[in-house]
Amino acid sequence: MAARAESTPAVPAWQRGRGASWVRPARPQADGLVYIVSSGVFFAAAGVMALLMRTQLATANAEVVTRESYNELLTVHGSAMVFLFAMPLIAGLGNYLVPLMIGARDMAFPRLNALSLWLYLFSGVVMMLSFLAEGGTAQAGWTAYPPLSSQQAGNGMDLWILSLHLIGVSSLLGAINFIVTIHNLRAPGMTWTRMPLFVWSMDVFAWLLLAVLPTLSAGLTLLLLDRQAGTHFFDPTGGGSPLLWQHAFWFFGHPEVYVLILPAMGIISEVLPVFARKPIFGYKAIAFSSVAIAFFSMLVWAHHMFTVGLPNVLNVYFMIASMIIAVPTGMKIFNWLATLWRGNLHFDAPMLYALGFLSIFTVGGLTGIFLAAFPVDWQLHDSYFVVAHFHYTIFGGVVFGLLAGLHYWWPKLYGRLLDERLGKASFWLMFAGFHLTFLPQHFLGLLGMPRRIYTYGEGGLWEGYNMASTIGSYVMGLGVLVILVNMAKTSRTGRRAGNDPWQANTLEWYTTSPPPEHNFDSVPYVASPRPLYDLRRRLKESDAV
Ligand code: CU
Repeated sequence: MAARAESTPAVPAWQRGRGASWVRPARPQADGLVYIVSSGVFFAAAGVMALLMRTQLATANAEVVTRESYNELLTVHGSAMVFLFAMPLIAGLGNYLVPLMIGARDMAFPRLNALSLWLYLFSGVVMMLSFLAEGGTAQAGWTAYPPLSSQQAGNGMDLWILSLHLIGVSSLLGAINFIVTIHNLRAPGMTWTRMPLFVWSMDVFAWLLLAVLPTLSAGLTLLLLDRQAGTHFFDPTGGGSPLLWQHAFWFFGHPEVYVLILPAMGIISEVLPVFARKPIFGYKAIAFSSVAIAFFSMLVWAHHMFTVGLPNVLNVYFMIASMIIAVPTGMKIFNWLATLWRGNLHFDAPMLYALGFLSIFTVGGLTGIFLAAFPVDWQLHDSYFVVAHFHYTIFGGVVFGLLAGLHYWWPKLYGRLLDERLGKASFWLMFAGFHLTFLPQHFLGLLGMPRRIYTYGEGGLWEGYNMASTIGSYVMGLGVLVILVNMAKTSRTGRRAGNDPWQANTLEWYTTSPPPEHNFDSVPYVASPRPLYDLRRRLKESDAV
């Protein structure tokens, strides 16, 4: 025993042994993997909630769930998808990949990383257990507008607030960790304009979180005080204003959309050039448009509040500001299209998901421009058109983007390739199921179906569109099952990936799959945004001699 302790003098006693490995996982990459797997579990849970809601709405006057249960489902579906699935999956991929892509051994603060992870898991458990509270969990939607949220009886709402507080602290710590890592631990030669675009997007993601997340936390604190301490911040009868909450929530809520979408855009910027066998077109434009999007996203929040009676001059301002965001976003889309133009396109599963992202997100962006025009919004506000728009951007953008990333980096994470046929099948199921689910919801919105209703009467076109939407949601569920089968099936028997199965460009493909504990034995000097391409070319040239 004594000899063993002597051989590892640098590690303090409390960090040794089995228990300690949970506080500070043995492999630096383990944090990232736990993030990825748990976010998958919450995705499944929130997905089942969506299927329950779609089953209730498939036919008129259905009684699959009660009104109260439906409200619980819609609240936790939204909150869990945003806070327990999308953000943690991005954090997990970032945790694993950012150090690898910049040629570092680990994140800057590994123990802080473990703390973020534990806070996240605890937050998820609190949210799920809040279903058991007296009177059930929160029923005010993920936007939690007072007085619905301040008046709901029972402690379910308080637990929901606690859960969001915990995930807020977790995300802030994670953001600080990403910023310090990216700013300080880059490999020799990796200047800002040679950094992978996914890393660029993670840097902007982290700065944006730091800027807007505290506003949500402050709003949640006031809400909790209104509920438990007799204050009246959001209560007009006591001199407060429910609009104060809406401002606080949306100052966070709108940028949050970009917190989720920017990393997805970063993934697309990595996948497209690799599968088009071309350098990315407009590297700098794509990198700096992320910064522009993040900046403008903080100036447009009240486009969610066009119906509350703001002075018209403000409505006009928020309309124009919202439309301006289409400029940097359009810049990215045209640069991606130019990357594909005359490329040698390879339609592997990651590429299919990336193209799915490109097509769906563009449609979601266009309906966003409709809704940004406030006279149009007055007609469509709180209708299913908004639900459709939201899912085209967030499901079509974030989920398809993340699935592109998952299929692209899976061989790096687990050392084995996914089955291409199952990968393609899952894409087509997801793609077809997606449009079948959400395209009809545009028409439902135009026909006047309000969102968040739990049932509706017979007659008219609502029934057909709703049935189509429900069938689509089950097709997507099938697509998710195919992805899971693919991962399970290939985990033992899949083809070995080797270091670089895709002929990719960035540093993570320089090391083994999966990487060793310290990520790299050596890191090549980075002389361009495509260090691995440079390396392959030099090898070819030396072979030719
Ligand atoms: Cu918005």
